[in-house]
Amino acid sequence: MATTNWVLAVPDQERLVKAAFEGTSRILATAIAAHLATLRPLHTHVSNHILAKEFAYCKYSKFRVGAALLSAGGEIIKGANVENASYGGTICAERTAIVKAVSEGTRAFIGLAVVTDVSSPISPCGMCRQVLREFCTLDMPIYMVPGDYDERVAQGILDGGVQETSLRELLPYSFGPEDLELPRK
Ligand code: THU
Repeated sequence: MATTNWVLAVPDQERLVKAAFEGTSRILATAIAAHLATLRPLHTHVSNHILAKEFAYCKYSKFRVGAALLSAGGEIIKGANVENASYGGTICAERTAIVKAVSEGTRAFIGLAVVTDVSSPISPCGMCRQVLREFCTLDMPIYMVPGDYDERVAQGILDGGVQETSLRELLPYSFGPEDLELPRK
């Protein structure tokens, strides 16, 4: 998978990364907030104003996922994975976030961050890619944040190991709403 540099402005990247962590762990989110405050005092203000706290409900997989969407209006919408005893009814963090946003009237997005507890970047699953395809542009940046992001930054790795991708990369030759507008025989 190809990776590219950050596209969003730094404060927006930081808001997204921090919000994605908040979806998985209050403790980690607090650590990230403290870390960002140390690095960039000016951004503490922004970090402190992200109030919503969502938590993964993953008692079966024990695999926590947090997602944060940045809307065109500058709002952060967070999601976490929500499992249930009938495993197939599980809702991923990304779909939680997008359904929360769309059901509240927000349909335009400019960035997504996804974080788990594992140290490699994890990408949205196939079903989430298709749902994102409905509302996000093919080139919207998707940031895959490693679970040890804060440790990496502390070690001097400036981007914290974040990998950027897009739906164009994740879902090539995708089927989308415009295909349904094509003339039919
Ligand atoms: N999961 C997500 O939330 N997002 C993904 O893109 C990958 C998978 C969740 C679903 C389930 O709760 C757990 O991770 C293990 O599959």
